[in-house]
Amino acid sequence: MRSHYCGELNESLIDQEVEICGWVHRRRDHGGVIFFDMRDREGMAQIVFDPDTVESFALAETVRSEYVLKIKGRVRARPEGTVNKDIPTGGIEVLGKELTILNRAETPPFQLDEHITVGEDVRLKYRYIDLRRPEIAEKLRFRSKVTSNIRNFLDHEGFMDIETPILTRATPEGARDYLVPSRTHSGEFFALPQSPQLFKQLLMVSGMDRYYQIAKCFRDEDLRADRQPEFTQIDIETSFLEESDIMDITQRMMVKLFKDELNVDLGEFPHITYADAMNRYGSDRPDLRFGLELVDIKDLMAAVDFKVFSGPANDPKGRVAALKVPGGASIARRAIDAYTKFVGIYGARGLAWIKVNDLSQGLEGLQSPIIKFMPEDVVMQLLDRLGAETGDIIFFGADKAKIVNEALGALRVKLAEDLDLFEREWAPCWVVDFPMFEELEGGALTPLHHPFTAPSCSLEELQKNPAEALSRAYDMVLNGTELGGGSIRIHDQDMQKIVLKVLGIGDEEANEKFGFLLDALKYGCPPHGGLAFGLDRIVMLMTGAASIRDVIAFPKTQSAACVMTDAPSEVSQEQLRELSIRVRKPVTEDGSSS
Ligand code: AMO
Ligand code: AMP
Repeated sequence: MRSHYCGELNESLIDQEVEICGWVHRRRDHGGVIFFDMRDREGMAQIVFDPDTVESFALAETVRSEYVLKIKGRVRARPEGTVNKDIPTGGIEVLGKELTILNRAETPPFQLDEHITVGEDVRLKYRYIDLRRPEIAEKLRFRSKVTSNIRNFLDHEGFMDIETPILTRATPEGARDYLVPSRTHSGEFFALPQSPQLFKQLLMVSGMDRYYQIAKCFRDEDLRADRQPEFTQIDIETSFLEESDIMDITQRMMVKLFKDELNVDLGEFPHITYADAMNRYGSDRPDLRFGLELVDIKDLMAAVDFKVFSGPANDPKGRVAALKVPGGASIARRAIDAYTKFVGIYGARGLAWIKVNDLSQGLEGLQSPIIKFMPEDVVMQLLDRLGAETGDIIFFGADKAKIVNEALGALRVKLAEDLDLFEREWAPCWVVDFPMFEELEGGALTPLHHPFTAPSCSLEELQKNPAEALSRAYDMVLNGTELGGGSIRIHDQDMQKIVLKVLGIGDEEANEKFGFLLDALKYGCPPHGGLAFGLDRIVMLMTGAASIRDVIAFPKTQSAACVMTDAPSEVSQEQLRELSIRVRKPVTEDGSSS
């Protein structure tokens, strides 16, 4: 139907006949001449119809936004003064000779240029129109380049692309499962995979040696700007490699991706231990684009006359930490109040501060709601430890370590954004030496990664002191986002049973849930390990998108629904009967069922 894409037209085609197809982006009538901007996947071109072409001109007058047209015409240079340097086709236009209306369009629910003013729900309901916006279409095109680049890399490194099932058993990755009822096994359910974790391990038992898959994963969890219920992993598993080998391969993959697609040199990937990351950044996905490190002051605060600080300072699970913001003394009181509210989201009960107005004046030069509670020498030691200078502000967190880390960790990032403290555009790192387990309230242990991750200690040590055990897990972090995570896996059946036992999963339950894995470990399982990247997150970071939804063609809303297809939806009684399911709707507060 066409000879060129609209966006491909340029000066080299001047005086040539072309045929193009696309959508009417805009129509303008100018003194008896009709102009269109015609749009297709590759870009936009200007078409002109003048009244000499009587029939086509008459048809052109009926054309409206988003009509689908085919146009035959001649490329010519734009008259002087009308050249548009902002678009690649801005030097030329097509003098239309023949116009065919391939399809008409009703007035769209929103104009592409005015997408900002309509709510996201409207854009998602008419996502196929939203995707016509060049800036969002560009993100999908970029995503396609990313997957192609990664496939090429992994294919070259000897990885095999193998698909694993979607209808399967639960894979524990810490979220709720999406369940699918079985018709042929009444009362029983499949679970959609939270990741291909167990299947990729089984592929190693089979001797596949190097596996990858661009895999859909499903997790019913609270959604955030960088989480979707259905998302895509670049899932990788290898045999007979150590952590360092796996980290090397995947780091090279990322470095190449950024170089090829963005011409960015990611540079060094420092290794940071989990403990160090928590202490210095309050987070296991530290944003290293700026400094602003947390400083421990627990020892200094143990004896002060301020319970808010001395309490956590004397609690083994407590933490008292300070965050110095150079030049922050000019932060207004109102802004401090807003930051206090902000840390409240993370459970902090306040946000103490000291402004260093003039260091040379000692206590007199400080302004703070808390120094009155502290002996002068403690204040001076504090300023000294932090290297405080005139013009700085110091913020404080005192509470359980978890709360202080989350609150000051998030505050650190917020301050960097508000005060533009970024020193570099890209800052990757590896976080290593994760604990095996995390303690839940009540003392039960839960895996920090997943229950198939190998500990870095012996079986005996693990049994003796599981809470202290470290794992052979590693996460790749970029600009404060966890891009991917993985580990060396347990390949020994006894170790796997012990880890499950530590997690409160006895032999019977272990056999019921993971019997197939435990069996496989008996039949010649090689040492193996791998990693999975979040593809959506990678594309989100690389394109600078504000939301993960912007890099997914048909994303779910914040409430995990698809407003376009209206999914999830009710099903017929007949379907339910076939599945032996009776629906009991939750009862609302007034007693009726919703
Ligand atoms: P993990 O659970 O860390 O590991 O997931 C790996 C990566 O997947 C991405 N990710 C998500 N992206 C979008 N929306 C979500 N809801 C979501 N959840 C996770 C993140 C994360 O780093 N089987 C292991 C990997 C392994 O051990 O090899 C796993 O799934 O970028
Ligand atoms: P108060 O004595 O409660 O008025 O607190 C004095 C200052 O300490 C205020 O600036 C509070 O915001 C701050 N503050 C209170 N609780 C905490 C906490 N847990 N961590 C850090 N600062 C706090």
